[in-house]
Amino acid sequence: MYRTHSNGELRIENVGQTVTLAGWVQKSRDKGFMIWVDLRDRYGITQLIFDEERTPKEMVNRAKTLGREFVIQVKGEVIERVSKNSNMPTGDVEILVKELTILNKSIVPPFTIEDQTDGGDELRMKYRYLDIRRNPVKNNLMFRHKVAMETRKYLSDEGFIEVETPYLIKSTPEGARDFVVPSRMNEGQFYALPQSPQTFKQLLMVGGMDKYFQIVKCFRDEDLRADRQPEFTQIDCEMAFVEQEDILNTFEGLTRHLLKEVNGVEVDKFPRMSFDEAMRRYGNDKPDIRFGMEFGELNEVAKHKDFGVFNNAELVVGIAVPEANSYTRKEIDKLIDWVKRPQVGALGMVYVRCNEDGTYKSSVDKFYDQNDLANWATITGAKPGDLICLLSGETDKVRAQLSALRMEMATRLGLRKSNVFAPLWVVDFPLLEWDEETKRYHAMHHPFTSPKPQDIALLDTDPGKVRANAYDLVLNGNEIGGGSIRIHDKATQALMFNHLGFTPEKAKEQFGFLMNAFEFGAPPHGGIAFGLDRLVAILGGQETIRDFIAFPKNNSGRDVMIDAPSAIDDEQLKELNLKIDL
Ligand code: AMO
Repeated sequence: MYRTHSNGELRIENVGQTVTLAGWVQKSRDKGFMIWVDLRDRYGITQLIFDEERTPKEMVNRAKTLGREFVIQVKGEVIERVSKNSNMPTGDVEILVKELTILNKSIVPPFTIEDQTDGGDELRMKYRYLDIRRNPVKNNLMFRHKVAMETRKYLSDEGFIEVETPYLIKSTPEGARDFVVPSRMNEGQFYALPQSPQTFKQLLMVGGMDKYFQIVKCFRDEDLRADRQPEFTQIDCEMAFVEQEDILNTFEGLTRHLLKEVNGVEVDKFPRMSFDEAMRRYGNDKPDIRFGMEFGELNEVAKHKDFGVFNNAELVVGIAVPEANSYTRKEIDKLIDWVKRPQVGALGMVYVRCNEDGTYKSSVDKFYDQNDLANWATITGAKPGDLICLLSGETDKVRAQLSALRMEMATRLGLRKSNVFAPLWVVDFPLLEWDEETKRYHAMHHPFTSPKPQDIALLDTDPGKVRANAYDLVLNGNEIGGGSIRIHDKATQALMFNHLGFTPEKAKEQFGFLMNAFEFGAPPHGGIAFGLDRLVAILGGQETIRDFIAFPKNNSGRDVMIDAPSAIDDEQLKELNLKIDL
């Protein structure tokens, strides 16, 4: 037996017992006549003591050779510590070692295996297995396990069945690029790795599975950000014989279960907001509603004075930033520079100081009097002491810019508290989205999403106005899930493909299998997929999903530990029919 106890287990009650422990040497302190070693494993740290008077000499000498991260096994007696450490669960005791076995040596690790490590990002990624020994990473992985377990438990109890779907498939159009895999046996042909199991879960509904889920890897070749990885995990779900309301209730139930079991937080019924309302009030389809600073639209009260910038704008919109009237002129100038950065892209910013005495001082006093500014304050909800920030321009652009400013100000003011959870359903998404590059409409969610029946007539006249039975679950300003009620009849699906610019031939080539299946009695169905990595990160009070993935890719999509992607040899290329002889 390698060990009788873990390193997080022993307490004062165990004093007097003979135990065997195993683990890694966190650190050792050699005081000559006495050596202390901190022994670590997944469960904690236990202090070992080698004492010249009570530990066999051979063992003391062996202890002197120990280095950081050596793997050892010790046998000894649990004794009460003279100086206790109340910060450690095992801090009342130590092990008086009688036998020490070195199970394996370690070379010196490239960074310290401590909560606050001296290793930079890239180095820690290269030696990720050492990083995983550190509490912050280890705890995140354990946290992820808990979320996945609770998800499985909840969905299984609700009658969902986990079904695996294939990874070597034909491309599913979800908007990103596919990762492709050449087929050795079918020359010149490729599989695609799934961007999601979307079509398969719909086929499972045709197959009568009724309630499906899967915790599943998805692959998307897109630019990386803090909340995006090229391979990530979804909690993918689908149900038959449901309406939107059933899906929202079921998955609100799952989210509430997770918040309760994992975070110990009870939340009220989730608010719902239409896409249009979210854009109007927050300039964003995934608004962070942990704080206010809602948009005030000012066209009515700010146009038709003499200020050309506002007169020429499609939208004049502002937010009241709490207590920011204390900003100095220099600080405001910096803020203006911030909104003018290419990442935000505003042309400038108008501001109004709301003084404590009820008067206003603005950067456009030449054009607006106290009455005008008081109107602006009413519409943006500004109070004395606040600073109103206004942007103007094209509606879509200016909303995105002000949304970025709102989030920045909330971060600066400490309003994005990681232990506060504000979920929100955003519903009634547009079905289609205009793409400037290709000059045509694309499915905003995916081509299998059903239009709202009352909007179908608009498909021919005003396609951008058609709303979909599509919804997103937003948590603290992050899109953690999205789904829709699907089209389940061949005619509507064909109509959709037609509006998305597919010829009937192309639609048949790509989606013939789905259209055929719809002819065999497809039930009404719908579903949702949560981004597990994002969900776990947010429940864990963070936003970078990389820290919750055991072996993530870096920002260039590389695994620097195994050095992938990498070239393959000529033989392999030839076998895959990819060798181009020049
Ligand atoms: P969607 O494309 O909205 O929907 O994806 C669902 C959720 O997956 C997460 N997500 C990601 N997480 C990390 N890295 C990525 N690159 C990444 N891309 C997406 C997000 C997102 O909300 N088949 C549909 C679902 C459905 O209709 O049922 C789908 O995949 O949290």
